[in-house]
Amino acid sequence: MMNIAVLASGRGSNFSAIIRAAKKGKIKANLSLLVCDNPKAGAAGRAKRAGVKIAMVRREDFSSRDDFERKIIEHLQQNNIDLVVLAGFMRMLGHELISRYENKIINIHPALLPSFKGAHGIKDAFDYGVKVTGVTVHFVDGQMDHGPIILQSPLRIEEGDTPESLEAKIHKLEHKIYPEAIQLFLEGRLKPLGRRVSSQVLR
Ligand code: GRF
Repeated sequence: MMNIAVLASGRGSNFSAIIRAAKKGKIKANLSLLVCDNPKAGAAGRAKRAGVKIAMVRREDFSSRDDFERKIIEHLQQNNIDLVVLAGFMRMLGHELISRYENKIINIHPALLPSFKGAHGIKDAFDYGVKVTGVTVHFVDGQMDHGPIILQSPLRIEEGDTPESLEAKIHKLEHKIYPEAIQLFLEGRLKPLGRRVSSQVLR
């Protein structure tokens, strides 16, 4: 079985959804490691409760971003990680990590990329007034919220929606499609097509 590492900085609801999917056998892999850069992150508590190994790597403990990242790479290598899953990891990844794990790092974004990149995708879409938003899972290529798109799921914004109700719906959708995208990867059914922002789902 392949080994998955999740990288998270915050609440960790996607991480929990991945744990649940792995338990149910919807993701057929070992959830080997949580890499976390924030000791206060909800994700860390969730990992403890679920018995997932934690590598706490704080940026403040390293004099350069390269050293910080080398530490993360070390943890990934020690645990023979095959797939790196970003789930609310609030840092950009550098060249070394991305080139070593080329097409093996995926991210989830709470809007339909390339719209509403950045840390406030849900609220930005709501404030803009779009009628449809959604969720995107994509390979990570070193630019923020950018790279070949694996799955997208649309969501209609209804008249009565508020930023809060929209956020709840978006998260629910995330928790459904992230495990699906991960399982497609594990089955070898994703083929990144160079720089094109699309992925071929092999049937
Ligand atoms: C999610 O909305 C995800 O799309 C974004 O960060 C958020 C993480 O939420 N990249 P959680 O920590 O998984 O609850």
